[in-house]
Amino acid sequence: MNIKEFKDKAISGFSKLTKQEKLEWLLSNVFENPREVIREFAEYWHKDETRQKVFDEISENTLTNFYLPYGVAPNFLINGKMYVVPMVIEESSVVAAASKAAKFWLDKGGFKTTVLSTTKIGQVHFKWSGDAAKLRAFMPELKLSLIQGVKHLTANMEKRGGGILDIELIDFTDQEENLYQLRASFETCDSMGANFINSCLEEFGKLLPEFIRANEAFSQSEKHSEVIMCILSNFTPESLVRAEVSCNVEDFGLVEGMPAEQFAEKFAQAVRIAELDPYRATTHNKGIFNGIDAVILATGNDFRAIEACGHTYAAKDGQYRSLSHAEVKDGVFRFWLDFPMAVGTIGGLTKIHPLAKRSLELLGQPSAKDLMQIVAAVGLAQNFGAVKALTTSGIQKGHMKMHLNNILANFEANAYEAERAREYFLDKVVSFASVREFLDKLRKGAMGQLKA
Ligand code: MEV
Repeated sequence: MNIKEFKDKAISGFSKLTKQEKLEWLLSNVFENPREVIREFAEYWHKDETRQKVFDEISENTLTNFYLPYGVAPNFLINGKMYVVPMVIEESSVVAAASKAAKFWLDKGGFKTTVLSTTKIGQVHFKWSGDAAKLRAFMPELKLSLIQGVKHLTANMEKRGGGILDIELIDFTDQEENLYQLRASFETCDSMGANFINSCLEEFGKLLPEFIRANEAFSQSEKHSEVIMCILSNFTPESLVRAEVSCNVEDFGLVEGMPAEQFAEKFAQAVRIAELDPYRATTHNKGIFNGIDAVILATGNDFRAIEACGHTYAAKDGQYRSLSHAEVKDGVFRFWLDFPMAVGTIGGLTKIHPLAKRSLELLGQPSAKDLMQIVAAVGLAQNFGAVKALTTSGIQKGHMKMHLNNILANFEANAYEAERAREYFLDKVVSFASVREFLDKLRKGAMGQLKA
């Protein structure tokens, strides 16, 4: 197909169509069985139109709702307070593993968490061809003028205890001709702060060229500056939380049949491998994000921002490494996670999504700092569960139970068939084909033909 043919197939004004019209367009253009698809899409609309409207308006071109399971992990003891943590995730075994890890640490003192800092960062990238030393000398004046110039935006945040903390000039001219950056730091209290920060930055983006133009100290050729872009940074290494668990090694007792000391050493060795090898670190951290993303989603926060920040932090010394660390010292096992994140418990989706609101209620209306600590504790618990399984019984045992349930649901097994299948596959490898064979034989009354 040439470009003209592609263009002939393109649709303009799609966003302006009603939901029904959008579906009709799809009907004639994409699906093989469009009537069936329209019926199915409509099945997932909320029965109450007002509530459906809330979801329709969260994004654009919405056709239906995409369901994900909403579960809870009980028994999380964090800084002496019990939590039932909401988790939204599509992967089986994650909620079960988090719950199991929470219970495991419950009688060992639970999770200890600390918010180390909450500073967020925003940047104005600009080009300027003047004398860098002169610009540096004017920074205190420029900073004051920028902070004054956005007072109308910061007044409310200041009342809540937040606002602009600092503005620095960063010189990139050794790497890129004439390139500079204003790096501003912010405190955004209980909101994630994206809108607040970006609004301030865009205002800085207007004020900065005016300041340079109006300044008598700059020569005519220095009066021009060009703002390239103004945007927050999702890398927030100074919005940092630590979660930690520890116990005497002997308190482990037997772990899946493994003596306490062997388990503790093997566990710490596994974490060390993830500190050394990026291939393992990626999977190890993915396990941490299984827990983190699930809570972030359930509370209506931005999981892409959290992921991006966490991965950059994992590579902060130039190599991608484990986000968690473990040590065994003087008979004590310690396992901890330092995790940077920007979360909010007011504003954004937390205000709009009815279930995000319920999640926050379930967590006792946490502040952003409280939520950071809960999220980090769940990430650490998830990581503990995965590494514990990997270094003892292996990961497949737990996964296979859930996998079997999914396959049984796929074959519409009834309660009797499911029970028989669970008994039969207790010591066998679960696969789609083996479960189908089992059910076929069970349904035909030919169980004797199955190999024991
Ligand atoms: C699976 O979703 C996550 C794990 O692979 C994490 C890990 O290997 O540590 C089990």
